[in-house]
Amino acid sequence: TQSRSVALRGRVVTFRASPFDVSPSDSLVIEEDGLVLIADGKISAVGPATTLRDTLPADTDIVDYGDSLISAGFIDTHVHYPQLPVIASWGEQLLEWLERYVFPAEAAFADPVVAKDTAKRFMTELLRSGTTTAAVYCTVHAHSVDAFLAESDRIGTRMIAGKVLMDRNAPDNLRDTVKEGYDDSVRLIGRWHGKGRQLYAVTPRFAITSTPEQLEAAGDLLRHHPGVFMQTHLAENTDEIEAVRHLYPERSSYLDVYDHAGLVGPRSIFGHAIHVGETEFCRCHESGAALAHCPTSNLFLGSGAFRLFDALNPRRPVRVGLGTDVGAGTSLSQLRTMGEAYKVALMTGHRLHAAQALWLATAGAAHSLHLDDTIGTIAPGFEADLCILDPRATPLLAYRTERCESLEELLFVLMTLGDERCVRATWANGARVYDRDGDMFA
Ligand code: GUN
Ligand code: ZN
Repeated sequence: TQSRSVALRGRVVTFRASPFDVSPSDSLVIEEDGLVLIADGKISAVGPATTLRDTLPADTDIVDYGDSLISAGFIDTHVHYPQLPVIASWGEQLLEWLERYVFPAEAAFADPVVAKDTAKRFMTELLRSGTTTAAVYCTVHAHSVDAFLAESDRIGTRMIAGKVLMDRNAPDNLRDTVKEGYDDSVRLIGRWHGKGRQLYAVTPRFAITSTPEQLEAAGDLLRHHPGVFMQTHLAENTDEIEAVRHLYPERSSYLDVYDHAGLVGPRSIFGHAIHVGETEFCRCHESGAALAHCPTSNLFLGSGAFRLFDALNPRRPVRVGLGTDVGAGTSLSQLRTMGEAYKVALMTGHRLHAAQALWLATAGAAHSLHLDDTIGTIAPGFEADLCILDPRATPLLAYRTERCESLEELLFVLMTLGDERCVRATWANGARVYDRDGDMFA
């Protein structure tokens, strides 16, 4: 079916520019009755249905989504698949939450069957949420990466994932050593980075659970394997920051711990970055590193409010994408995450426009990952990762969206009231991989 071309009809919504550079209204490209033509996994044409229809190859299947929106697939820049079993765990902030809930859940991944089953469940949930690319933490076990990326490869999504590096301040059964962590990572990079659509991220959990020597080894991995990603956590919680200061008294800041090890550069993704200052924002700007804004997680763990509009200051804009950070995050839905990002922005004195929120979940996230020539936008040449959003998914949504006078208003209602129930279908690499009414295709 890949060689045969297919066209999706609906209300196409994508971006021509960043809504933080131009006015949000000017950034949007809207085709009210649009057609997205797909061939060989890529978008080959986009335009008004009435004119494009006559130019289609004779055997083109047209899938008509009516008044549903056709968006680029969502991109989740920070999430932990092994934490799906402990999403919604009560009563703790970061460090205690890790010990009480997360480490036991990750220890269960010593069993490869647990890894495989959880990877399948997690991928299903991602597709149900309209997410087609994510930067994913696995566990310390190398086979946890195999389980996840094999499933992504089977489905055809573009995923970034890595084995967690952790050589101190963690239970015995979750620690590696500098050498084991390095050697496992080298093998996994060779097996997965650039295999089909899969990409590898060197993944030291955070400064507390790696020795300086392990962080140096992570830096060596990046130097020896140009193009691989790096993901870790940064300045999420005040107790965490105090512990890092104590463990690395010679470093000038939390970010400097990573910088000293050669971990700050393009394709570095730092989760949270709530408690950072101008120096850190400048360093991320000049290095091309990304920050993953995880509002549902930061609210759930009581970590604080990310200063999105400071990070994006046009004098030295930092690359930012949205992350769900499940299991600390409370939903895999990027619509939910956009809605919570709006509330967190208000708490810091800023009004996040719906177009800005959608950009952070699609084209902006792709930009943050240096993948903005490949995914995140609906235009010829881009990979055909799409999600279809139903503005009438619930009775209340139908009632409220009927009253919308613009697509921008509709987007805001969707991000405020919507969640995975709005995702009517998900397409990855030009194939339908999820359909709300017809079940999974993958
Ligand atoms: N910091 C170190 N590990 C984690 C994790 O698993 N989740 C979150 N939210 N923060 C972390
Ligand atoms: Zn995280």
